[in-house]
Formats: sequence, C-alpha cells, structure tokens
Amino acid sequence: MIRSRLFSTKGITVRNIVRAILGAAAVLCGINVTPAFAADESIQISVDAAKPGARIDRHIFGQFAEHLGRGVYEGVWVGPDSKIPNTRGIRNDVVAALKAIKVPNVRWPGGCFADEYHWRNGIGPRDKRPATLNPNWGGVIEPNTFGTHEFFDFIDQIGAEAYLSINVGSGTAAEAADWLEYLTTPQPTALQKQRAANGHPEPFRVPILGIGNENWGCGGSMTPEYYVDQLKVYARYSRNYNPDQKMRRIAVGPDTADTSYTEAVMAAWKNKTWAWDIEGLSLHYYTVVKWPPAYKSFGFGEKEYAELIQSTRRMYDLLKTHGDIMDKYDPEKKVALSVDEWGVWLAKIPDTPEGFLEQQNSQRDAVIASLNINAFARHADRVKIANIAQMVNVLQAMIFTREEKLVLTPTYHVFRMYVPFQDATFLPVSFDAGKYVHGSIELPRVDAIAAKATDGKVWVALTNLDANRPVTLNVAVPGGAKVNRARGEILSAPKVDSVNSFEAPEVVKPRALNARVSGGKITVTLAPASVAVIGLE
Ligand code: AHR
Repeated sequence: MIRSRLFSTKGITVRNIVRAILGAAAVLCGINVTPAFAADESIQISVDAAKPGARIDRHIFGQFAEHLGRGVYEGVWVGPDSKIPNTRGIRNDVVAALKAIKVPNVRWPGGCFADEYHWRNGIGPRDKRPATLNPNWGGVIEPNTFGTHEFFDFIDQIGAEAYLSINVGSGTAAEAADWLEYLTTPQPTALQKQRAANGHPEPFRVPILGIGNENWGCGGSMTPEYYVDQLKVYARYSRNYNPDQKMRRIAVGPDTADTSYTEAVMAAWKNKTWAWDIEGLSLHYYTVVKWPPAYKSFGFGEKEYAELIQSTRRMYDLLKTHGDIMDKYDPEKKVALSVDEWGVWLAKIPDTPEGFLEQQNSQRDAVIASLNINAFARHADRVKIANIAQMVNVLQAMIFTREEKLVLTPTYHVFRMYVPFQDATFLPVSFDAGKYVHGSIELPRVDAIAAKATDGKVWVALTNLDANRPVTLNVAVPGGAKVNRARGEILSAPKVDSVNSFEAPEVVKPRALNARVSGGKITVTLAPASVAVIGLE
C-alpha cells in the first residue's frame, strides 16, 4: 500500500536509505540492479529556447459547469437571499477562487444536460420560471433559477468567456437561432428588447459555441452522417450578430478512439459550401480504467495510481489518432481540436446521491491534471480549447463546497501553478524520462514542458510520476538568456491518495520552491508523485 510509503520532500526516507544500502551491496556482489530499483541519478532536461513552437492557447485551461448534482446549484448559485456571502446569488468565495486561476472560458449548460435544455425556461423573473426535470442526472427538479443572465453574470465576475452548448439533441435549429439572436444582436429586434427588459441591453459575447454534445450518445445516438446533416443546418442558422467578436463553432467529434465522427465531420468540412462552416471539433476522453468507473477517489493503493496514470496517458494516442485525420483534411490546421471534456472519472463518494458524480480529488489527480495539460501544450498547434470536467463539486473538480465552507482541491492548485503557461509560447524540451515501473505497468518517470510567457520569462513544468522515488532534475536552457534565479512552487503530498477535506483543507497545497542555480543550470529535487512549476530569471 502507498499508505506505508512515507516520504519527505527532500527524498530522504527509510525506504530510500534501505534501497541505497541494498543497491550498494548488490553492486559489491556483482548483481545487476533493475532500472526501477537503481540508485536515483539525476535526469538532464534541455529547453530549446531557439525553437519556439505554437502559442499555448489560454483556452486549454477552460472549465466545464453542467447542471449536474451540486455543480451549479450550491456550487456556484446560492441565490441572493442565501446566508452564504454572494453577489446577485453567486457565491463570493467560489468567484474569488476561480479568479485566481484565471479561468479563460466556462462551458455551459452541459454536457448531456445541454441537449435537453430549453433556454427560454431560464430567462425572465426567477419566481416565474418553470420547474423542469433533469433526467440525465438523478432525475431531480431543475429550478431554472440559474439561466442565461445568471451564467453571464457569473463569468463576468470571474473574468471568463462563454462557451455555450446549444441543444441539437432535442431542440430545433429555430430555438438555437433565437437564443443566438437573443444573446448577440445589437439591433432592436423583439428578442433584443426582451433581453433588455431582462436587464441586459448590450449584446453578450459568445466567443465559443458548441453545436450539440455527444450526439453519438446522450445527444440522440445520431449516426455520423445524420449528425453532419444537423451540423450544417445549426452552423448556418446559429448566427453571431455581435460585430465586435468572432465566434468559434465547435462540432461534435469523437468519443475516445472512435474515428467515425472525426472522419465524417472533417470530410464534410473539406467539401463545405459557402453556406456553413465550423472552427473546431470536439473530443471527449475521460481517464478511467473501465466503465462504469469504479476506482476509488481516496483510500487507494499504488496499483490504482499506476493504472490511472497509464489510462490518462492515452490522451497522447487520441490526440495523434484524431490529429492525423484532421491533418489529412485540414493540413493548415484551421479547425481546432477542442478537448472539451477530460479528467479522471471515479466511483462516487459513498452516501452521495446517484447521478451527482461526486468524487474526492487526490494528489494522483493533480499529477493526472499536469500530464493532460502537458499533452495539450505539446499539441498546441491543433488543441486550442480544453475543458476539465467539472468545475465545482462534480468529477475532477477544482473546488468543493459544503454550505458556507469551501475546499480547494489538488487539481485546483495545478491549474493555479500553470497560469504562466496561458498564451505562452511552447518551447521544445528534450530529456530521457527514465522509467517508473509498477507490476506490469511501465511509465515514464518524469514529464516536463517549457514555455516562454507573454512577458518573455521562461517557465518549466516538471512532474515526477514515480509514486516512490524522488528525482533530481537538472534543467538547462542552452542558447537562452542566462539564468540567475529559479523560483516557483511544488505540489507534493504525504501519499498519492492524500486529499483535502472540509476537516483538513490544506493537506495538499503548493509550497515555494527555490531551485539551486549553478553555471546557468537549475537543479531541483521533486518528491514522489509531485508537480512543480518554476520560472527562470
Ligand atoms: O461530464 C459528465 C458527462 O459526461 C457529460 O454530461 C457528458 O457529455 C459526458 O458523457
């Protein structure tokens, strides 16, 4: 069990001392030591500042907020009469926490919920809005008190942009067209006047629009061909009337490795007429070992750690598989890949309601978050949007709320540490990652990315995947500006299944990291299963 593998942040543990003694004895006896148990030698990382790559679009740090469980109601919306401090019904503590991670966009209102959402239920005086049902998620009442205006107020408060998903599954093209006119027209149409009467005369900004959600599944089980026909209609009539801002339309794309939607949508796009267009294709991939998700979110061992890390690394295969198909039809990379649902999906916390998808969030999930962000950054030329599922209280959440209390998760801390990578320019790194072996699972021991931030400063993000061994990394930037100082933060934890809870909210939290700098090279030791982000000065 991981539980018994205590380690200090300096890597000096009883286990490592024993290993070192055994390793030395083995060498004296002429025994070969396998890489997994070899003495810890340092890994050299070289950042190529002379070969800048693509811009890492800040929108890869997007969030997903579906009407699901306590994600929106309680998690964001408590209503203006709540005793929980709020601004126009939106929790102040959640807003403050999300502002700190500079959320670029929020995908809303779903998910599967979006394909049963009728926007007119969510406008006008709140006490007159109809109560409807949420059959996808627990069959609970949807009060519709959080609707269009509340959503835009919320994203304004956190400084994010809108990623709206329109209802292709059970709605009509006319309903979607009306929503877009209601949202975006500056002209005095009947819908604009209704919007003004509801408190917002100025157009809302809708920079990203999802045309449906998982229409191969909960969004109507459509064949790729049928969906493509729908796409052409919706892409034509869901117009953005806001002349001040472009809107990217994102088509539904693949479920994990199934390439049928990727092929069909991209082939249709290549042969498109003047009458329709898209700017993106969505990919959904959840980190699970098998469906339905049964792995625990706390109280697990190294086996579950290694298996889920292996599962999350499948993101690379998917980005390649779907990226190659997109390249075939779109070598100029005009159509973005939008990984608008990703994250680890685990067993629900016992005693939480069915369909609410409540899970804890551990140090393992922080490592998983870093590995996925690194994958998106490495494909920054194609991946322009990504949304972790989901923002508050649901799946791999940033934040947990319980009445007036709030807890920041290990995943939240990774998103905060990675802020300098938003809109930074990718810099290639080379290193021999070494190996982390658990049973039959073999993984790279470390991962690393680098980027030049908008202010010119070089940042590196370093992940130690190994659940047991600390690792020493030597980072060099040959040809780059001289490095005098390297400062950042490290997120490590007593165990890979360490979590933050309402009772103990700061078990996992970043601490300052001053890396050693000598001869322009930085040297840093990472605790097992940890993530560090360091700025070079
Ligand atoms: O994030 C939870 C659900 O997962 C979404 O509603 C759906 O799109 C996906 O299957």
